[in-house]
Amino acid sequence: MQRVCREIRAAGRVLGFVPTMGALHEGHLSLVRRARGECDVVAASIFVNPLQFGPGEDFARYPRTFEADCRSLEAEGVEVLFAPDAAEMYPEGAVTKVIVAGVGDRLDGASRPGHFTGVATVVAKLFHVVGPNKAYFGQKDAAQLAVLRQMAQDLNFDLELVGCAIVRDADGLALSSRNKYLSAAERERALALHRCLLRIRERIVDGERESKGLIRSALEVLNVAVGVRVDYLAIVDAKTLLPMATAEPGALVAVAAYVGSTRLIDNFLVG
Ligand code: PAJ
Repeated sequence: MQRVCREIRAAGRVLGFVPTMGALHEGHLSLVRRARGECDVVAASIFVNPLQFGPGEDFARYPRTFEADCRSLEAEGVEVLFAPDAAEMYPEGAVTKVIVAGVGDRLDGASRPGHFTGVATVVAKLFHVVGPNKAYFGQKDAAQLAVLRQMAQDLNFDLELVGCAIVRDADGLALSSRNKYLSAAERERALALHRCLLRIRERIVDGERESKGLIRSALEVLNVAVGVRVDYLAIVDAKTLLPMATAEPGALVAVAAYVGSTRLIDNFLVG
């Protein structure tokens, strides 16, 4: 992979990179299409990264649809795919980790200790292997994007991180590989995440700015939803992930909740 990517860059072609954990859906493919439009060659990776899953999380049962993923990537014009196994990424004796202090401990980093260390470590390794000019990430994982921007800056990665809009189903549910875990009834309940964000957006449009009041009214939507347990609902600075007292432009409104045993996230940026 390193050699192939080096040759692409040496030929003066702009290399775009889309890292994924597979189980690809239209959200992932939207990143690929954006990369295709902006780069000469698109590389992707599929790797279910054990380092970013906590004990008791869904690493073992995470959906794996490798053959179908390959077909989708090929159909979208991805020329290079990197799909290592865990032993190749983390050979015996590998001990180095990338810790993004502060921002990496907020939102999902607070709920899932060590998660963003796992993400930052694998993405740093992938960046070293691929050496892309541009790397594409979804705004769906807004906290992940903030952590990776901080990492790229701190570690002098010479590349551009491109954040891409959230792709949703027609009813508003943000696409996620984990939606596969939901029963039909749970899928219906999961719409509460999007609904509570819409409630906040409406109130902001109506001129309400105070985070406390906005969060309180959105929690009303979430707390009456049967089978939905809120992990966090927060209004934070999109870059630092620190709480903001008022929902100013640049604020990130983010929610995480369990629907049954499935943890889902969603968010929007205050425009
Ligand atoms: P994964 O969950 O497979 O997501 C891969 C990329 O697709 C991420 O950048 C994610 O934000 C984006 N994505 C997922 N659902 C999306 C949606 N509905 N709309 C737009 N983009 C969406 O995120 C990871 O993998 C991993 O943490 C990874 C970065 C690959 C490191 O292991």
